[in-house]
Amino acid sequence: MGVQAATVAKGRQPAPSFTSIRGCESDALDSILQLARKIRAGGVGHSRRGLQVNLFFEASTRTRTSFEVAGRRLGLDVVNLEVASSSVSKGESLADTVRTIDAIGPDVIVVRHSRAGAPEVVAANTAASVINAGDGAREHPTQAVLDAMTLMDRFQIASMADLRGLSIAVVGDIAHSRVARSNLSLWSLAGANIRLVGPRAFLPPGFAEAGWDVHHDLENGLRGTDVVYLLRVQLERQHGQMYPSMGEYHRRYGLTKHRLERLAPDALVMHPGPVNRGVEIADELMTDDRCLIQDQVTNGVWARMAVLDFLLDRLEKVSC
Ligand code: CP
Repeated sequence: MGVQAATVAKGRQPAPSFTSIRGCESDALDSILQLARKIRAGGVGHSRRGLQVNLFFEASTRTRTSFEVAGRRLGLDVVNLEVASSSVSKGESLADTVRTIDAIGPDVIVVRHSRAGAPEVVAANTAASVINAGDGAREHPTQAVLDAMTLMDRFQIASMADLRGLSIAVVGDIAHSRVARSNLSLWSLAGANIRLVGPRAFLPPGFAEAGWDVHHDLENGLRGTDVVYLLRVQLERQHGQMYPSMGEYHRRYGLTKHRLERLAPDALVMHPGPVNRGVEIADELMTDDRCLIQDQVTNGVWARMAVLDFLLDRLEKVSC
């Protein structure tokens, strides 16, 4: 886990932060995953004290709600800055907004922002721990933790290392996906076999040359895989370079029951949400037993409680 080299106010220590999976050690991630399971089993007390401030500059349903529930369940005071009605709307910069929040004395700041790297700007201007809740198309590290937890549950495996050898096909808009970037980093650390599936425009340049197993044809990409991880077509990040039409995308890359049964009948289906029904996934699969979307959302609370608890534990040790 990386400690930010923050330029915080004189005399205050930078706190441990969680802004990226890249650079994390397997042991730290596995500790968080084990902690999430322990919290779910009732083996960790909910008696934390402290202040968590959620700064969501971009829309969110799952991440924001689960971070709020996670903080409250741990015993933290949780404040949501309403960005639209804050001084951000008067032109206050991100750095000045964070310095202002920092003066109120938060222990943790959770930030979502449309700009890649925004969590590092936050960390450079606060003594609080910073958690990246999604920055542009770069990273969404807590999504990767909750996804790993969901896979470990379904495959009844004890540790992150046991994901080794699992075949995971990631289908869709990988180029614009922060979820994909964080998951690819975590699954690579664990040793999973990863396939990237989608049209050329949705695959990051250079990945095939770098040795990733790239498929432009859904049939080849899905055949025999253990997990199909679908990604949302990010309409807001396409900048006019859309796939010809969403109907055409569904025809070539959309997952239907028929396709799943023909290519990988035992595969589990995941999606970070929000879902474009009838684009990435057919309606009929949303309630299929193989579809883990609701489990992912449920695990989001346990995973985020674990990340908060893990950082606060280290914060207390840093402060001693
Ligand atoms: N998966 C995810 O980040 O969803 P939200 O945008 O609803 O938080």
